[in-house]
Amino acid sequence: MTARRFSLIMASVAVALAIGLSVGLLFGERSGGGSGKAAIGGPFELVDHTGRTVTEANFEGQYTLVYFGFTFCPDVCPTELQAMSVALDLLGEEAEAITPIFITVDPERDTVELMARYREHFHPRLQALTGSSTQVAAAARAYRVYYARVEDESSTEYLMDHSAYVYLMDRKGEYLKHFAPNTPPESYVEAIRAIL
Ligand code: NI
Repeated sequence: MTARRFSLIMASVAVALAIGLSVGLLFGERSGGGSGKAAIGGPFELVDHTGRTVTEANFEGQYTLVYFGFTFCPDVCPTELQAMSVALDLLGEEAEAITPIFITVDPERDTVELMARYREHFHPRLQALTGSSTQVAAAARAYRVYYARVEDESSTEYLMDHSAYVYLMDRKGEYLKHFAPNTPPESYVEAIRAIL
């Protein structure tokens, strides 16, 4: 690891900590009473893996598990999407109330076609959403998701730095709960069963 690479990593850690802190404050707002609602989620307009324009209204009446990432992600994203998928399998019929949603933070590379192919590795009902960079930025802002392009010296492909929480939203699209990276499927099942 070069010194430059190290400082890059430390900078990412600092950013991650800052985001963790602000996310913590946002979530804290909810448990502390206050407005009684976390400022996570809201209107969005994106394009699904079939090329259809979708908004938050398309998911009304369903609980959703929402995760932002990118298909070139080497490990975190596939791990999180896999955990969501396994959790839904474990939930059996109960999972029918839940729509899993993957939203790319890398619309430049994550085309509709690529999202359609990528989602096949995961749950059959996974909605894989992309859009213009403006649409994606708006959706990420609504969910308080941080992302930034990071050049990777060891590759010609860039990476995306991004927050990796999974959000459980209720039937009206309002925030219920979040899951930290590396949450095992069993913990999703337990938390979701407690809510359904
Ligand atoms: Ni990722």
